[in-house]
Amino acid sequence: MRKLYLIGIGAGNPEYITVQAIKALNLVDVFFFMDKGKAKQDLVNLRKQICERYIEKTSYRVVEADDPVRDTTISDYTTRVELWHRQRALVYEEMIAQQLEENQCGGFLVWGDPSLYDSTLRVIEHIIACGRLCFEFEVIPGITSIQVLAARHKISLNGIGESIVITTGRQLSAGLSGTAERTIVMLDGQCSFNSLLDEELDIFWGAYLGMEEEILLSGKLSEIAGMIEKVRHEKRQRNGWIMDTYLLSKPNRAAQARVPRTGTSCDHNDL
Ligand SMILES: C[S@@+](CC[C@H](N)C(=O)[O-])C[C@H]1O[C@@H](n2cnc3c(N)ncnc32)[C@H](O)[C@@H]1O
Repeated sequence: MRKLYLIGIGAGNPEYITVQAIKALNLVDVFFFMDKGKAKQDLVNLRKQICERYIEKTSYRVVEADDPVRDTTISDYTTRVELWHRQRALVYEEMIAQQLEENQCGGFLVWGDPSLYDSTLRVIEHIIACGRLCFEFEVIPGITSIQVLAARHKISLNGIGESIVITTGRQLSAGLSGTAERTIVMLDGQCSFNSLLDEELDIFWGAYLGMEEEILLSGKLSEIAGMIEKVRHEKRQRNGWIMDTYLLSKPNRAAQARVPRTGTSCDHNDL
């Protein structure tokens, strides 16, 4: 039977690959890459570098397909994304059926970890639900951008015994969840932290985490929000893309140890 590996490759640095991921990489006959356009070519290239660096055999193949474009005329976000997943499922199904022989292994290299804000698992579930293709699959966990953010800022994600919320920029713009002392925000193209400038919050922000271009900024949100927005805009213009993640924290002892209460703590290259 065909087997698929969904391999978490870590978020940005080729050295975030686990030993388990390297073993899985070496079992794969065909890798499936989605082409997301020129701007995201850097991310495809990183996947290719990972294959070249860690795979010992030369007999594997890479098959690329164009990623379906989301239909922006659909106003409801969930409906729009679900339709996009179904379109992706058709593309994946066709690639697997045509390019992977029975008894071969296919591989999807998933950014960070497959369980966190990634569609690959849902797309695979769609294909299984359609029932036209028979295969087994295994998920190999990877280091998420959240873990890299915490490691690079040298902070704990949670306070003692406290909850943390992981959310998106879209959700944050509706306000902070009342139950958590700390909130991690991903997928925020709109700098939604600007809606919270009246709140007493610290921010630990990271872009291109784990990569050569990595930028880290931290401080009082109300003091450095403008700087983050400016840096984000400039880097996005220059590189054609940016990925950033941040943690918002109510000021507490843990944060005070790390964040100077006057001014900002900046650790970044080439602002
Ligand atoms: C589609 S989600 C994928 C998350 C991924 N599965 C993970 O485990 O981190 C993409 C979002 O993850 C965050 N992200 C991923 N890689 C990042 C990186 N190297 N630096 C900063 N943020 C990153 C950003 O918030 C980005 O908008």
